[in-house]
Amino acid sequence: MKKTSLYLLLLLTVELIAQNNSFSPGEIWKDTDGIHINAHGGGILFDRGIYYWYGEHKGTSNNAQVGITVYSSNDLYNWKNEGVALAVSKNPNSEIVTGSVMERPKVIYNAKTKEYVMWFHLELKGQGYAAARTAVATSSSPLGPFVYLKSYRPNKETWPLNYNEKWKKAPKDGEPQKWWSEKWYKAVKEGLFVRRDFVEGQMSRDMTIYVDDNGKAYHIHSSEENQTLHISELTDDYLGFTGKWARIDPGGQNEAPAIFKKDGTYYMITSGLTGWDPNAARSFKANSILGPWTPLGNPAKGKDSNLTFYSQSTFILPIQGKKDAFIFMADRWTPKTPIDGRYIWLPIKFKEGKPVIEWEKRWKINQFFK
Ligand code: DGJ
Repeated sequence: MKKTSLYLLLLLTVELIAQNNSFSPGEIWKDTDGIHINAHGGGILFDRGIYYWYGEHKGTSNNAQVGITVYSSNDLYNWKNEGVALAVSKNPNSEIVTGSVMERPKVIYNAKTKEYVMWFHLELKGQGYAAARTAVATSSSPLGPFVYLKSYRPNKETWPLNYNEKWKKAPKDGEPQKWWSEKWYKAVKEGLFVRRDFVEGQMSRDMTIYVDDNGKAYHIHSSEENQTLHISELTDDYLGFTGKWARIDPGGQNEAPAIFKKDGTYYMITSGLTGWDPNAARSFKANSILGPWTPLGNPAKGKDSNLTFYSQSTFILPIQGKKDAFIFMADRWTPKTPIDGRYIWLPIKFKEGKPVIEWEKRWKINQFFK
């Protein structure tokens, strides 16, 4: 064999060995350049045969210094860094200026407008988590660059569908002032914060987007001081809210919503509310996306399931070309060194009509899904 052919063969072998052919949850996950993937709180879009993974770029702090990254793959194991999909702005007057907080980006494609639409949780620079806004950007390509449009608190001056007429007004003896008291918990369930934010718009923190089979898109987010999830229908161009919305598990303290549909039933997996620290996941099901949603308990089973294997949900990925094949995607946060955060991807199984997630040290798609 000629020297050059031998060299090429060697290169090919090295390349093949370097490729991933399984998932190793919690380990360093190298992209095709050999660098740990930097796409936290992520979500995935499947478009024209390619998966795109969007996520938060993290450095040494949680504040956005770079923006939202995008990676591409055709096998879900190997990801190519495609750069920054939505960059932070250098303009101090921009809402997405360097140092703002940009979390949990989700991208969907709108066939009518032919635009890729990115929604994400935005916190304005220097305000901690007080702004509680949802933000939207668009692009004509899945790789970006996305152009930032606006951010706001949704559902201004509209009441939820599943809301008692009586809760539109404060109770006769006034709103409870002391947080975490029995009276306060009851008032939260009965719309304390919905009333408070009626004029300004409802808070929107941890979020996801779901596109149903009929093309209608929904925005699901933690609202009411993270005490209650809201689900809202988006307009046909996916750029705004129609005003049709519902509350899920009032007072239940759910974060990190992720949603999927199987055999006509909607399932949702969420986390509890403990900041960056892991807690036990929860699950729900519904026949209609706007609810009612029935709680199904912690889908995680086995060792460390009470902490969801030290992770928090971010997205549920349907595997293309396979029936009922869903991957639970979660983040193992490392708030002291955010860039080092790990990805926990696990197969979703079904037992007695409920989603079940069990730990796998290393796994392949074909092991679980036909
Ligand atoms: C938990 C959320 O799920 C994360 O996305 C992030 O907002 C942290 N809280 C901030 O403490």
